[in-house]
This record gives sequence, C-alpha cells and structure tokens, in this order.
Amino acid sequence: MKDVTITDSILYVGVDDRTIDLFESQYVVPNGISYNSYIILDEKITVMDTVDARKADEWISNLEAVLVGRQVDYLVVSHMEPDHAANIQRLAQKYPNMKLVGNAKTFAMIPQFFDLDVSNRSVVVKEGDTLNLGKHTLQFFMAPMVHWPEVMVTYEQTEKILFSADGFGKFGALDAEEAWTCEARRYYFNIVGKYGAQVQALLNKAATLDIQMICPLHGPILKEDLGYYIEKYDIWSKYEPEDEGVFIAYASIHGNTAKAAKKFAEMLEEKGAKRVAIADLSRDDMAEAVEDAFRHDKLVVASSTYDGGLFPCMEDFLAHLRAKNYQKRTVAFMENGSWAPMAAKKMKEVFEGMKDISICEPVVTIKSTMKEDTIKVMEELAEKLV
Ligand code: FEO
Repeated sequence: MKDVTITDSILYVGVDDRTIDLFESQYVVPNGISYNSYIILDEKITVMDTVDARKADEWISNLEAVLVGRQVDYLVVSHMEPDHAANIQRLAQKYPNMKLVGNAKTFAMIPQFFDLDVSNRSVVVKEGDTLNLGKHTLQFFMAPMVHWPEVMVTYEQTEKILFSADGFGKFGALDAEEAWTCEARRYYFNIVGKYGAQVQALLNKAATLDIQMICPLHGPILKEDLGYYIEKYDIWSKYEPEDEGVFIAYASIHGNTAKAAKKFAEMLEEKGAKRVAIADLSRDDMAEAVEDAFRHDKLVVASSTYDGGLFPCMEDFLAHLRAKNYQKRTVAFMENGSWAPMAAKKMKEVFEGMKDISICEPVVTIKSTMKEDTIKVMEELAEKLV
C-alpha cells in the first residue's frame, strides 16, 4: 500500500489502479487512478467509503492490516458510484455489526446495486447532522450532483478534515509524479463539469468551515495551500476561463484542415497570443480537448464538411462541450468543403444554443486546400483573436 500520512488516527487504506484501460469506460488515465478510502481509529472505528471492485482484495488487506483484528463500527458512504461503493456488500457481510451511514438517497440506491438488507443497520443523516466517534465528530453536508444526487461530504471537526467525495479529485495513481492542476482540471471538466452551480453551492458550505486538510476520493490528500485548490474550483465551477489564450480544435479528413489549423496557430503565436494550444480531435484525447476548451477564453473550431454536416469527431467534441455546459467564451470557425462547405453553419448552430458565447468573425472557409485568399481571411481572424 502507498504510504500516505494523514494523522495519527486517520489512515489511508485506499488503492492505486494502474491497469485500468479506461476509467469510467471512457477516460484514458496514463498514470492510473486512485480509489481513496480512509479509516478513522477511535472508540467507534469508521471506514470512509470502499473502493472499486477491481481492487477489492487489496483494499480488504489494507483494512485488515490497520484493524489488526478489530471490528468496523461504521461505514460512511459518500457516493454510490461503483468506483467507491462496489464493496459495500462485502464489508457489510464481513462486519455484521457495522452500521452504514448515508442519506435518504444513499439508502434508496443501495438495494439497486446490492442484495443487502440494511434496514436495521442504517444511520440516515441529513444536512448538518453529526456523528460522534469518541474523540472525532463527523458532520455531514449534502453535495447533490457533485457528482451524483446522493453525494455528501463529511467534515471531521476535531482534526478539521474535509472528506470531499469526488470534489478536488484527480486522475493519476497516488504514486504518479505529476502536478495536480492538469489532471485535476481534466477530471473536473469531464466528470463534474456539467454541475458548476452545485459545485458553487458546495464551495459556499465549505467556506463556513475551518478546513486544514482535504481528503478526496481520487488523487492526493491536499494539506497545504488549500486556497489554491479552492480558487481553481471556484473559477472552474463559475465557468470562467482560467487562462487568456486560444485553443484550436480541428477535425481533418485528409490533412488539409489540419494544415490550416496549424498555420493558424503559428499566425496567432506570431501576433503575440498569450497561449496557443491545438488538438487533433481524430487522434488526441477527447477529454483533454474538452479540458483545454474550458481552460482558455477563446476557441477556434476547424472542421471538414462531411456528409453535409460535420466530421464525426467534431460532432462528438461539440456534444461533449454542450453536455458540460460550455459557456462564457469567444468562438471562431474554420471550415473546409470541396464542393458545399457546411461545417461552419453546423458548428455555429451548436454554439448558438449555449450561454454567453461571443462569435468572432470572419469565418474561414477553405475550399479543399489553403490558398492565398484563405490565408488573408485567417490573418484577419487572427488579428481579432489576439
Ligand atoms: Fe469517483 Fe463519481 O465517482
């Protein structure tokens, strides 16, 4: 087990998963993912969430090593998604006197996932309720839709620790040597991005607490400079751009749209754009493209016309942006079409359905390949974007 120090009486018993091909069957995780679980050793011994079924045995042996024969009194269920809740039944059967702590929505979901009667062992908590464990007292705050409706976070009052469920989580195993921000941002926008208002509600609750440490369900325990992480979450959940710069996302069939997109990136750099990022939607990680779209204040979408509409990977990208509540950005269009270019019109229709999108013109239309007249229009657009 990765040695993660929290406090003398609160221990990490989670697991790293470096062999999963796709997290949630859609996200590449080059450095794996951690399923965090914690144990509070007190008069009442309490486990904070279980882990994914893929790592059940390792997690149980982590628990046993810490328990050295003692029983578990409570299991707090912050979130019913199977990457955290898969082992509820197993733990409940292993410790028949253990009580389960959750809210009304948690207990409505448990029988959906398990053949387990918890009617005489459930502790149903509501907003602000407390549970005394001895020296520690847990206080529960509901965090609906961060990221499922039953999600709640737990504040431990004595050591001032917030168990934040998926909030403040990050892709990457705990032993991965990587910065927090990039993979936390990719995680945030792809997994929780749709629920900015609900994240804001949670941040407002958190602001009333004296928090010394954040223990999320994925990624590192945050112990210092908590203001940095909270500020990032505030920016992200308000859908404010984090960086001034242009992200170019292109969908190219034979490389001509790609060539124009890359040329456009060069132009922006030459004209002094603060940041320029570019992604090939056919080949690059879609989740990272979504992240980059939210990160920057300007987006250029460049697509080939295909079957009278959009090349499918562009269609997919825009569907992701729409689903994640993309808003408050400046967007410009580049399209390609050898006989009837339609891509810009189709892309524009999607953005017109989003909030606070400012369209930057002119539209760049490429007829098969970039020519002098196309470059002139690109220059004009680049001027407006820097
Ligand atoms: Fe990590 Fe929403 O589960």
